Amino acid sequence: MDGKATAAAVRGEVAAEVARLVDAHGETARPGLAVVIVGERKDSQTYVRAKRRACEEVGISSFGFELPEETTQEALQDVVRELNARQDVHGILVQLPLPEHIDDEKVLDGIEIGKDVDGFHPLNIGRLCMSGRTPPLFVPCTPKGCVELMDRYGVDVEGKNVVVIGRSNIVGLPLAMLLLHRNATVTICHSRTRDTSAKVKEADIVVAACGIPKFVDKSWLKKDAVVVDVGINAVDDPSKKRGYRLVGDVDYEGAAEVASFITPVPGGVGPMTIAMLLTNTVEACKRHLP
Ligand code: GUN
Repeated sequence: MDGKATAAAVRGEVAAEVARLVDAHGETARPGLAVVIVGERKDSQTYVRAKRRACEEVGISSFGFELPEETTQEALQDVVRELNARQDVHGILVQLPLPEHIDDEKVLDGIEIGKDVDGFHPLNIGRLCMSGRTPPLFVPCTPKGCVELMDRYGVDVEGKNVVVIGRSNIVGLPLAMLLLHRNATVTICHSRTRDTSAKVKEADIVVAACGIPKFVDKSWLKKDAVVVDVGINAVDDPSKKRGYRLVGDVDYEGAAEVASFITPVPGGVGPMTIAMLLTNTVEACKRHLP
C-alpha cells in the first residue's frame, strides 16, 4: 500500500476543498493550523516541518510556535489559551513528546475540543472509545491514516482477526478502538504480552506500532496477511549521508514475500498521518461556517 501516493491524492482533494471554501466564503474561511513545538528534538522538528509544509501546499495557513526547552507549564498553557481564542486558528497541534517537566495531559486538556485536530483531548479519546451516540470531534491522525489507507486499497476489516502491536495513546489504543467499531476482532499486544508471535500467526491484519526496528518477522505472518507498519526508527547506516536510515517495526523485505498488502517505511503510514491532519483541520474550519 503506497502511502506516499495515497496521501498525495488526499492532499489534492484537500487543496480543492480549501480553494472552494475560500471562494465561497472569503479569506476568513481559510483553514488555519497552529503548530506548537517545545524544545529541540530533531525528530519532532522534522515532523513539524513536514506538517507545516503540507499545510502550505494545500492552502491551509500554518502558524508556527517554537518554544524553548525551559518553557514552563503555565507559559505553554497560556499559549494554548491564546490559540483557543484566535478566530484564524481552527486547529491546534502540540507536538509530542513534551519535555519531562511538562505535564502533557494538562496541556492537551486545555486545548479547545473543537480545535483538537490531533484528537488527543480526553473527551475526544473517551468518545472514540465508546461506541455511543456522540462520536469524537476528531480521530487521531495516525490511526485515521491507517484506516483510510486500508479503505482506499479495499481492505475490509469486518470479522477479521487484527493484531495491533503497541498500546500507545497516540496510535495503538485509538487504532484498536477504530477497528473494533468496524467489527474487527482486535487483539492488542504489548511489552508484557507473553507470546506476540503466536498471536500474530493468527492475524489476518497486523498493525505494528511498538517502535522496535524490524520486530515483526516474516516467519510470524500468515500467508496473505495485511501488514501495516507504523514504526519510524532511525538505525545507524554509515553508507548514508545522514549516517542513519529509517526502518519500520516490520522486516519489510521478508514480510513482503508473504503479505498480500504491506506498507513500506518510509512512504507508508507517515505521509497518511500528515494528510489526515489536513482533513481534520479543514473539518474544524468548516464547522464554524454558516
Ligand atoms: N508525536 C508523534 N506523533 C504525533 C502526532 O500525531 N501528533 C503530535 N502532536 N505529536 C506526535
